[in-house]
Amino acid sequence: MKILITGAKGQLGSELEKVLTEKKCSIGAIGKDYDNCDYLTLGSTDLDITDFEKAKEILEVNKPDIVINCAAYTNVDECESNPEKAMAVNAVGAKNLAVICQGINSKLVHISTDYVFDGESESPYCEWDLCNPKTIYGKSKLLGERYVREFAKKYFIIRTSWLYGKNGKNFVKTIIDLGKKKNKIEVVNDQIGNPTNVNDLAYHILDIATTEDYGIYNCVGEGCCSWFDLAAKIVDYADLSCKVAPVTTLEYQKIDFRAAKRPRNSSLCNLMLKVCKKNRMRRWEETLKDFVLDAIKK
Ligand SMILES: NC(=O)c1ccc[n+]([C@@H]2O[C@H](COP(=O)([O-])OP(=O)(O)OC[C@H]3O[C@@H](n4cnc5c(N)ncnc54)[C@H](OP(=O)(O)O)[C@@H]3O)[C@@H](O)[C@H]2O)c1
Repeated sequence: MKILITGAKGQLGSELEKVLTEKKCSIGAIGKDYDNCDYLTLGSTDLDITDFEKAKEILEVNKPDIVINCAAYTNVDECESNPEKAMAVNAVGAKNLAVICQGINSKLVHISTDYVFDGESESPYCEWDLCNPKTIYGKSKLLGERYVREFAKKYFIIRTSWLYGKNGKNFVKTIIDLGKKKNKIEVVNDQIGNPTNVNDLAYHILDIATTEDYGIYNCVGEGCCSWFDLAAKIVDYADLSCKVAPVTTLEYQKIDFRAAKRPRNSSLCNLMLKVCKKNRMRRWEETLKDFVLDAIKK
């Protein structure tokens, strides 16, 4: 079996590479199908998904059985001021891969986001819920999903949220750093989501990818919380003396104006994972604790 990963230098892409090398995640060993698999990890300079001709050439030469698209323009605020780039990478890039995968009969695993929802629901979103993105990032990711569904037959769309992992910038690492330097930090308590450890996500991506259970899956840490709850837990697990204070989004915007309005409640429910696969996503607190204890050792 041959796997090709795009956006491989990012947070999720690099974790997938690590997991494929070690053949295991914190949840457990990855499937036997991966024992003798070849994998090709390509960063944005090796494979630019917006360049259809080059991408086609690379994929046609390598003929992967599975393409995992981790490439995306993920800066939610920057997307507001650069919609052309958001459209090019998140929508057209996804379409390019869908068309090419269909042509070479490869499966396509495409990663998407909770930001395809407007966040106005009182309960977590299931796969069947109506999308209504409010940000340019969310709109471009939703169009990417639609293109994947339209142009690829063998697709998996995996929606995830609030990612953190060892590589790259993320909220968990930022709070650990701030918590070491500051006496007090203020964090919004009126935006709800699911913190998701990329290692747990990688396990499920690889678990789903070898099946033929195509379709849309939510894949997030079990349970939801606010950014404030998350920051408070990080500081607690890291045993830092910094005080975490809750603020509203409105109050926070006065301190740090950000271009994109975040969904109020973008939490997801892992319904398809429960129905079609074994949902082994761990509670967000459990997997966060492992991550924080490991991070502060270094
Ligand atoms: N991070 C989150 O909290 C979060 C939440 C929900 C969903 N997701 C989704 O999860 C997936 C992985 O996210 P992540 O956190 O791993 O993102 P990330 O760390 O920002 O990685 C994305 C990677 O994509 C690459 N890339 C950008 N434009 C590209 C292009 N035209 N061609 C090829 N590669 C390109 C970037 O490379 P350069 O740096 O060189 O541009 C980067 O290495 C994305 O689909 C994202 O939308 C993320």
